[in-house]
Amino acid sequence: MNISIIGLGYVGTVSAACLACKGHLVWAVDINSEKIRIVNEGGSPIVENGLADKVAEARRAGRLHATGDIEQALQETEICFVAVATPSRPNGQIDPTHLLRACEQIARALVKLDRSQVVIIRSSVLPSVLKCCEDVLNAIAPGKTKLCVNPEFLREGTAIRDFENPPFTLLGVEEPTVELVLRSLYIDFGSPLYVLPPQEALLVKYASNVYHALKVAFANEIGTLCESSGINGQAVMSMFCRDNRLNISARYLMPGFAFGGSCLPKDLRAILQLAKQSDLDLPLINALFASNEKVIERAVRQVMDAGVRRVGLIGLSFKPNTDDLRESPYVEIAERLLGKGCDLRVYDPNVLLARLTGANKDYIDRVIPHLSRLLVPSLADLADSELVIVGHNYTEVAAFLETVDTTVVDLTGQHARPTLKAELV
Ligand SMILES: NC(=O)c1ccc[n+]([C@@H]2O[C@H](COP(=O)([O-])OP(=O)(O)OC[C@H]3O[C@@H](n4cnc5c(N)ncnc54)[C@H](O)[C@@H]3O)[C@@H](O)[C@H]2O)c1
Repeated sequence: MNISIIGLGYVGTVSAACLACKGHLVWAVDINSEKIRIVNEGGSPIVENGLADKVAEARRAGRLHATGDIEQALQETEICFVAVATPSRPNGQIDPTHLLRACEQIARALVKLDRSQVVIIRSSVLPSVLKCCEDVLNAIAPGKTKLCVNPEFLREGTAIRDFENPPFTLLGVEEPTVELVLRSLYIDFGSPLYVLPPQEALLVKYASNVYHALKVAFANEIGTLCESSGINGQAVMSMFCRDNRLNISARYLMPGFAFGGSCLPKDLRAILQLAKQSDLDLPLINALFASNEKVIERAVRQVMDAGVRRVGLIGLSFKPNTDDLRESPYVEIAERLLGKGCDLRVYDPNVLLARLTGANKDYIDRVIPHLSRLLVPSLADLADSELVIVGHNYTEVAAFLETVDTTVVDLTGQHARPTLKAELV
């Protein structure tokens, strides 16, 4: 394929050299003449393991050219990657100046050349910035570009290895013809390739980096806590990492409702108490209860905003498939809705059973007798609710929701495809 890449930074140079070494013809464009010179002389403009060799190999094969002339590059190529920097503004917002300038240059060149091009944003941006790119391209060169995204997951230091063996290739593309072109580019990469709507693909990149930051901060706080008690934090965390069922896994990573139950809140409180006794500041771990509380508050607000009175709640125990009600966030939401005057009914077959027989009967009678009285024996008893809160995703829930014409607040995230919130875009 004939490819242009705008931006000879870490992402751009690695992509350019690796794609050229795979046999593509690559035109790399930068505004920095020194970088152009270095690449054309067969060297690397950045310090990165093995990159100078890759650039030299690509140059020797005559498949990599660097230029400051975007028109020259676009004339030669079918698809154009944009990998310019997207730094932070002082307020944390993305500064899109370089990216929008690059889009403007691409559009102007395409008008002059009277041709169209697939434009793939490789830079990390949020959906609002992608929309600005689209607006710039369409304003200057209407109908001449097909815009999509292809977030990059490489790490500096191991960039070539990461580029050639990514965990997956992610395309944010809506048009099938463009998808086909990009699929053919990545066909021999040997990693899975996934296609999402562009907005989702962009957020996968951000979720990944935020999660990496979260992991580092979490490990450091556990390490600090261990150290203050004379315990080897490295040993603790290396054993922690061996659990790839619950710890290093997809468990607990789906957006849904708040945590609760008989263990998580209790053990979190114990760790926070230990930190306090040791005069340790652990801001991340300390923030977990506040974060959890926000989830409950948001759910209550969602129900109250609907302006209804008759509410059905599916699920009361702290998670599905148990009758354990200790520190259940569903009990919490039920209490708050009752406090706000809602006429509440609750469906939870496990709790219903426990009320009659189980070991939890005493807890139910003693601690939540008022909620226990609201339990109904079947989902059909919630049919005349003005709003139904889906807390637990029992198998019969989907069919039930099909039969009722009621507002649904889905705490499981599994009954409605979530729409992007304004604060994210
Ligand atoms: N560095 C990484 O490890 C990494 C990994 C994944 C994603 N990303 C993302 O990729 C993007 C690029 O990051 P980077 O670290 O490679 O940036 P960088 O700062 O190293 O390089 C950007 C290059 O773009 C050039 N440039 C700026 N405006 C231009 C224009 N109008 N025309 C041509 N060239 C132009 C600059 O001269 C510079 O050489 C960012 O959005 C970043 O968040 C970076």
